[in-house]
Amino acid sequence: MDAHFSGRLGTMPDASPLSLALDAIRASGRSLVNLSDSNPSKHGLVPPGVLDALSDVRSLSYEPDPRGLIRARDALAARLLCNPERLFLSASSSEAYAWAFKLCCDPGDCVLVPRPGYPLFDWLAGLEAVRCVPYSLYYTHPYGWRIDMDELTALAAKHRPKALVVINPNNPTGSYLAQDEYHAIPQLCASFGMSLVSDEVFLPYWLDAGGPGQSMGNQDSCLTLTLDGLSKRMCLPQLKLGWTRLSGPDDLVAEAARRLELIADTYLSVGAPVMNALPTLLATADSFTDGVRRRLAQNLQTLHRLVGGPDSAFRVLRCDGGWTALLQCPHIMSDEELVLAIAKHAGVSVQPGYFFDMDRDGFVAVSLILEPTAFAQAASAMVDALKQMLQAV
Ligand SMILES: Cc1ncc(COP(=O)(O)O)c(C=O)c1O
Repeated sequence: MDAHFSGRLGTMPDASPLSLALDAIRASGRSLVNLSDSNPSKHGLVPPGVLDALSDVRSLSYEPDPRGLIRARDALAARLLCNPERLFLSASSSEAYAWAFKLCCDPGDCVLVPRPGYPLFDWLAGLEAVRCVPYSLYYTHPYGWRIDMDELTALAAKHRPKALVVINPNNPTGSYLAQDEYHAIPQLCASFGMSLVSDEVFLPYWLDAGGPGQSMGNQDSCLTLTLDGLSKRMCLPQLKLGWTRLSGPDDLVAEAARRLELIADTYLSVGAPVMNALPTLLATADSFTDGVRRRLAQNLQTLHRLVGGPDSAFRVLRCDGGWTALLQCPHIMSDEELVLAIAKHAGVSVQPGYFFDMDRDGFVAVSLILEPTAFAQAASAMVDALKQMLQAV
């Protein structure tokens, strides 16, 4: 059977025991509120004027451009203060990752990715026959997350990866690159001949950081692909538009652009309606993002209030930005048991820390994008259930 198929997918994953157990709870008639849901369209987060913006009559004519329609790239370039010829539109930032790996890697090569991190990257790399080598982020309360730079340097020397992926801020840790990391990482990439892939889909959503993070898009020490898209920036994953910005030494950027153009031309994957809508959509981007950020901040504050102060047995980890908060619980059971107990006692489903490769049990991830009243109800049920579980031990 396996002889028919590519090994890129590895062993096909079965449904996890946890998702089967959650399905069984739902099948028994109990509905579960999904407190980890990160689909903004389910939580009333839609920017104004989207349907009008999509109805541009020019979208009925097909004018293929591998980099994406120039009027869309011009509008984006005006915001990013860059040359539109350095921008490539794709159907999503996930597709932009796939193109970045096609551009930088041969089958069997590896890339460095953060751990904890979003599990999708293993698949995105695996589908390009590329291996992910994780580098560690470590947490110190209340200061937040740091990259282990010594380990990162040692991994670069040992594995000779073709690219280093940074996620700024990272999901689920919510950590932006610290100033020293921001400067050291491009230097490290330049000295090991690695490209830098900077995922900035959550960049404007600062929370405990007190201000937005800095994009890698302007640095020029190493070849850099900065990824972003409408999915998070404007809460429009259903429109399918992402982008890659190239920066770095001019000769490398020029060669990367030639090659990326060929890759993009092979797919021509972005639809005309969304490209034609982009200039109009971007006009409301900042005010829309501000509103979403205020909702995230309100929900994070609610979670802190429910968990309680420093005497609480539970702790909300520092969350500099992004859409996810991590709650640390006393280690009284495995992550799987913890999530199941929350589902049974609170009627709420959350993601376990192991989903993101946390280095130990006792963490759950909650989404901060829910409508604040719904968030407060679900988070309160979860925290009450956790406190009761702890008392029962
Ligand atoms: C850090 C990060 N980057 C990229 C993506 C994928 O976004 P897109 O919808 O643009 O493919 C996700 C999805 O949640 C994410 O968490």
